[in-house]
Amino acid sequence: MKINDSKVSEIVDQHDTPLYVYDEHKIREQYRELEESLCSRYDDVQINYAVKSNFNPRIAEILLDEGAGLDCASKAELELADRLDADEVMYTAPYNRKDELDYAVEKGAEVNLDSVFLLDKMTEVPEMICFRIDPEIDSDRDLMFAGGDAKFGVSEEKAVEAYRKAKGMGVEKFGIHMMTGSNVTDASYFEYITERLLKVAERISKEVGIEFEFVDIGGGLGIPYRPEEDTLDIDAAAEGIVKEMKKGIEKYDIGKPELRLEPGRYLTAEAGHLISRVTGVKHKDTEYVGLDTGMHQILRPSLLDSYHEIRKVEKNDNPETQERTVVGQVCSSIDVIAEERELPELEQGDLVSIEDVGAYGFVMASHWNSRPLPAEVLVGKNGVELIRERQNKEQIFHGTFLDD
Ligand SMILES: Cc1ncc(COP(=O)(O)O)c(C=O)c1O
Repeated sequence: MKINDSKVSEIVDQHDTPLYVYDEHKIREQYRELEESLCSRYDDVQINYAVKSNFNPRIAEILLDEGAGLDCASKAELELADRLDADEVMYTAPYNRKDELDYAVEKGAEVNLDSVFLLDKMTEVPEMICFRIDPEIDSDRDLMFAGGDAKFGVSEEKAVEAYRKAKGMGVEKFGIHMMTGSNVTDASYFEYITERLLKVAERISKEVGIEFEFVDIGGGLGIPYRPEEDTLDIDAAAEGIVKEMKKGIEKYDIGKPELRLEPGRYLTAEAGHLISRVTGVKHKDTEYVGLDTGMHQILRPSLLDSYHEIRKVEKNDNPETQERTVVGQVCSSIDVIAEERELPELEQGDLVSIEDVGAYGFVMASHWNSRPLPAEVLVGKNGVELIRERQNKEQIFHGTFLDD
């Protein structure tokens, strides 16, 4: 198996396992495809990379180089944007502390507020404010981040009050934002949510008497995790989004807003591979294949029951497959990466690649069972580049009385 023309076994010879490996070319390709699909249809587009999906500074740097801005969710992400000299920085995080909001304003980020009460927490009210709207949506659509039972966003009713209050506090410029779904591969969804957000924008604009600098439809662009899943038709999605933007601008008195998106997964997920070595195989009611990684390094399968393809790095001579259960090293019965999956024969010492882990992979890793965080490498323009060192066991004691 090769990643961007580099043999995985050679990368492992140099950097050991478990190892996150990212393909620079794939990240750039995803960005360009998305940008082209939108910019060829609308002349004022801003794509902000959602840093929360993968906060390695080199990954963010690649996307900045492609022309993206950054969507940040914490002080550290704002710090990263600052250190990388990002021009376009948005701060989107729910239930903020006062010092976090003040820090975002101080750093010059555009602040996207998840609740009206946050306005009162800010020491200095910035010139521009955006609110994350929770639009009423069609209940047939399985959207995780919207609706009365979601912790996010300002309802349409409250949004009018929110913008009125901000205007009264001296805010002069406004944006409107939503983030309603995750890993969506149905292109029509994006047309649907754009239409919904523009209707909310119209109401606010009419009742409060403001225009919008930007309309941000969030992230949520999906990728096919399973081989049989559809790929998001990005051109069809862009067509629907832009159609609704243009229609909204023509029909409603909301100004001529920039179109914004803040994808994470779409840009980085498919570029990431977690390379791990088989530590042993145990035959019980099922065959357990143990790896030198686990839910402490790739949490999605245990937390969300997510599917990730598992590939054997060196091809088998024997093409036969059978059901095997791939498990990790954490002392928890939920540390299962793939349950009863058809896989080729795997033996102690074999290398496997857990696929599509470039988003919500390393960022969700922990020290559970007191294991150090894995290393990350980037394969791209500079060859094989170590972009985060493997932690050592001493670093586990950092900040405790055993730290020396
Ligand atoms: C506010 C916000 N924007 C963008 C994203 C990125 O989402 P995705 O990686 O699905 O594109 C998230 C993810 O949780 C989010 O909460």
